[in-house]
Amino acid sequence: MGAYDESYRRSLDDPHGFWLDAAEAISWTRPPTRAIDATDGPIYRWYPDGVLNTSYNALDRHVEAGHGDRTALIYDSPVTGTGATFTYAELRDEVARFAGALASLGVGKGDRVIVYMPMVPEAVVAMLACARLGAIHSVVFGGFAPRELAARIDDATPKVIVAASCGIEPTRVVEYKPIIDEALRISQHQPEHTVVLQRPQAEATLGEHDLDWTDLTAKAEPADPVPVDATDPLYILYTSGTTGKPKGVVRDNGGHAVALAWTMRNVYDIGPGDVWWTASDVGWVVGHSYIVYAPLLVGATTVLYEGKPVGTPDAGAFWRVISEHGVKALFTAPTAIRAIKKVDPEAAELAKYPMESFRTLFLAGERLDPETYHWAHEHLGVPVVDHWWQTETGWPIAANPRGLEPLPTKPGSATVPMPGWNVQILDAYGKELLPQQEGAIAIKLPLPPGALPTLWGDDQRYIDSYLKEYDGYYLTGDGGFIDEDGYIFVMGRTDDVINVAGHRLSTGSIEAVVAANAAVAECAVIGVHDPLKGQLPRALVVLKAGASVSEETLRDELVAAVRREIGPVAAFRDVSIVDALPKTRSGKILRRTMRGIADGRDEPVPSTIEDPGVLDALRPVLRPVLGSQEG
Ligand code: COA
Ligand code: AMP
Repeated sequence: MGAYDESYRRSLDDPHGFWLDAAEAISWTRPPTRAIDATDGPIYRWYPDGVLNTSYNALDRHVEAGHGDRTALIYDSPVTGTGATFTYAELRDEVARFAGALASLGVGKGDRVIVYMPMVPEAVVAMLACARLGAIHSVVFGGFAPRELAARIDDATPKVIVAASCGIEPTRVVEYKPIIDEALRISQHQPEHTVVLQRPQAEATLGEHDLDWTDLTAKAEPADPVPVDATDPLYILYTSGTTGKPKGVVRDNGGHAVALAWTMRNVYDIGPGDVWWTASDVGWVVGHSYIVYAPLLVGATTVLYEGKPVGTPDAGAFWRVISEHGVKALFTAPTAIRAIKKVDPEAAELAKYPMESFRTLFLAGERLDPETYHWAHEHLGVPVVDHWWQTETGWPIAANPRGLEPLPTKPGSATVPMPGWNVQILDAYGKELLPQQEGAIAIKLPLPPGALPTLWGDDQRYIDSYLKEYDGYYLTGDGGFIDEDGYIFVMGRTDDVINVAGHRLSTGSIEAVVAANAAVAECAVIGVHDPLKGQLPRALVVLKAGASVSEETLRDELVAAVRREIGPVAAFRDVSIVDALPKTRSGKILRRTMRGIADGRDEPVPSTIEDPGVLDALRPVLRPVLGSQEG
């Protein structure tokens, strides 16, 4: 048996032994004697008697071990033309001082803090400062509109918001303060303060409850790490569900630290002193796990990149970063590679940057299409590793464990399940399917450490959303199959979640905005294939009787509304007026069937369809989209 098989088997046969051994990579205030607590099943808790501090594990312990001079974080910001480097000792001091600043505002263990910041080092400092105090951070991505921010403020009820005055997109400076002010106007809950990091590109005007980051921090005393229970929440990260209301995914302290440290070594083959780069955003789970926590937990150097893959300044932006900082492995979304490939199909820019340090490209966040896989492999000359995970899981469900035992890669597959993930393919009745048979991808409970224990303040929603469909399993929402070698092929979501440029969105929330337009009688929003962003949202709209708006005017109105209500990140531009929407006899709109037709699949028409003629009339409207995009 190889190292992978051995680890995987042991993790399922002896989860206690496997995960207690893994826990030794973490410094505990009180080491756990038990791995899993199943007394509240199906809500499981990992390391119920363990006590630790995650910020201490990410920073102080490396300094105490004599590695204070090692580089912890490299900030590289082509959009501002600036950069900075922080050693472990420097980052610890920044974090301790900002933790003191938060404590001076009354923030303590269990309090929530919303972090609304772009890719600046202070975002990492704010997250780790919360962790240091045992406070719970909730980072909100900068591309969301005020209403989305307000929904998160009302659910998390933070004591303080920590923000920057602006974020920088290639074409514009995004002022954050007006977005926060508008969110606070809408939200019921009012935090006591907003701490604002002033950036020179657009300084914010501060109101009576606002505090300047620099002034506040200058007056603060450094704070020590506060020991917390392993089961205490470290953060809440909101993600799109099938309804408009975002789900507050909870991450605990102990299981998270153990799982991430395990993956850094065994999946990504990264250890102390290695330079690791995740090109994502701290607002997404990939950013939480692999820009901030995992690399620091193992004493590696993490690159924090504020820019895009292309146009900052050119298609060689990524290769420059790898070359300049000696990056050993890069983790990003396939869409970023497609963006580079589009403007530099022959990868001419690569020749300018020697990349001897570079060993592996890791891709996740959406399906890795074989064309992108082959392009990256051919031009970069390193293994291209697809791996599959979700905000809920916090770390890869399926991957190629490069550190433990590199396995052959197969285009289209995220390789094999990682330890603790008992992945099964189920049919509609919950029967486990055989190799090659496609069905719902589910995971037998309990989930391993690091996966969500619940949703914030809503155990019932956690059970209803993930555990109810199949007794004893977690429903991933993805469909796919496993081949004879045990390789997992993830084919896409089976629900109304879509993935736009690696960003997860709910078609339900876009539909709610579209439906609110006075001219709209009913609508459906589906995700359709896009060669660059993977998927794009597309609205099919039936007008109210007597409404005489043109398709162009309606499109302008709806695009503006989605941008205003959800945010630019929805990348919503596609609106078609149609005569009717296909439905079942009970009135359910056949979104999945339309999606299949738009993507060129031979989707079976459900026998419950009310009027097949409606679907036939729609086929030409749906199909040309695919044709024009592929061409
Ligand atoms: N703050 C404000 N606006 C933002 C934003 C942010 N943090 N991030 C994106 N936006 C805006 C963009 O400016 C764009 O606005 P526009 O409609 O005015 O042009 C819109 O949201 C759509 O953004 P996006 O879909 O990201 O398109 P893009 O053209 O800006 O970039 C990619 C496309 C592929 C280069 C980029 O999405 C990317 O690098 N993605 C891969 C990495 C990643 O972050 N993955 C996440 C999980 S791993
Ligand atoms: P998020 O929660 O934003 O990380 O999005 C999770 C969803 O992204 C998953 O449920 C999948 O639909 C999709 N996804 C992530 N990684 C992959 C992958 N490697 N292959 C296919 N789909 C993926």
